Amino acid sequence: MQPDEKYLFTYKGCYFQPDLTSVEYLDSLEDFEIRDSDVFLVTYPKSGTVWTENILSLIYHEGHRDGSEKLTLLDRVMSLEYNIGNVDYASRPSPRLFASHVPYYLVPKGLRNRRAKVVYVVRNPKDVLVSYYHFSKTSLKLEEVEDFGIFMERFLAGKVLASLWLDHVEGWYSHRDDFNILFLTYEEMKKDLRSSVLKLCNFLGRRLTEKEVDAVVDQATFNKMKADPRANYEFMPPEFMDYSKGHFLRKGTVGDWKNMMTVAQNERFDSVFKERIEKLPIKFCWDINEES
Ligand code: A3P
Repeated sequence: MQPDEKYLFTYKGCYFQPDLTSVEYLDSLEDFEIRDSDVFLVTYPKSGTVWTENILSLIYHEGHRDGSEKLTLLDRVMSLEYNIGNVDYASRPSPRLFASHVPYYLVPKGLRNRRAKVVYVVRNPKDVLVSYYHFSKTSLKLEEVEDFGIFMERFLAGKVLASLWLDHVEGWYSHRDDFNILFLTYEEMKKDLRSSVLKLCNFLGRRLTEKEVDAVVDQATFNKMKADPRANYEFMPPEFMDYSKGHFLRKGTVGDWKNMMTVAQNERFDSVFKERIEKLPIKFCWDINEES
């Protein structure tokens, strides 16, 4: 079954949301002007995008003593392919922070000179699937699929926004030498947030004091972010989200798939994904209690 055109259209082999972007706009991204100081956070949806956006923003604005404390996350980290506010990105001051879900082959070509930075966050795909399923109920821009089994089949076939998880992750990993890129996993962030923040600071060349690092870590915890109206994404207008059905910050844990997937669904998932997952240069953590 093909996805509903009201919610998805294909552009060069990848699914996008038709209300939020267009073929003309996506065409323009190839020549989108890149500054050396730009930072692009790239993720497959539901992999910890908002979380990492907040961390990047905190690192760059060191606890927000620079006026950015009043801005929501969407103003601080701008979506590359979904410019919903029609912001003139070219007039924004450096350093600019962007977030994107595009596959490696659709990024602006200026990123390939390896000067601007890319941070790619990957999450174990079973938790991504479950998070995506819940999110599709909350987001009015995604088709709501009541039955989890049906949603899983769409996910396994790549008939969801950003297309197939495997293609996205494999594509970015196998082309990593084309970019100035740091890979992080959601699970390592969850297990040791401070180390992940330090890794990011190191990659981005940002020197923060111990106290500033502590402040970033503190403000990026799940509970702090959930309570922070500038960071929890509940500022999105009602035409985008139905918050009576869920939240961007839902559970924020590792291994929630075990509460959702039946044994048979888990086996079905593995029969489609496992072989390619095992070839990826990532050791996934499937449960927060697992030893790494
Ligand atoms: P769950 O639905 O499993 O809770 P994205 O931002 O890419 O859409 O990802 C959303 C997922 O990241 C959600 O997962 C959300 O709860 C989780 N998340 C957001 N902020 C987080 C934080 N500070 N700590 C842990 N997880 C977080």
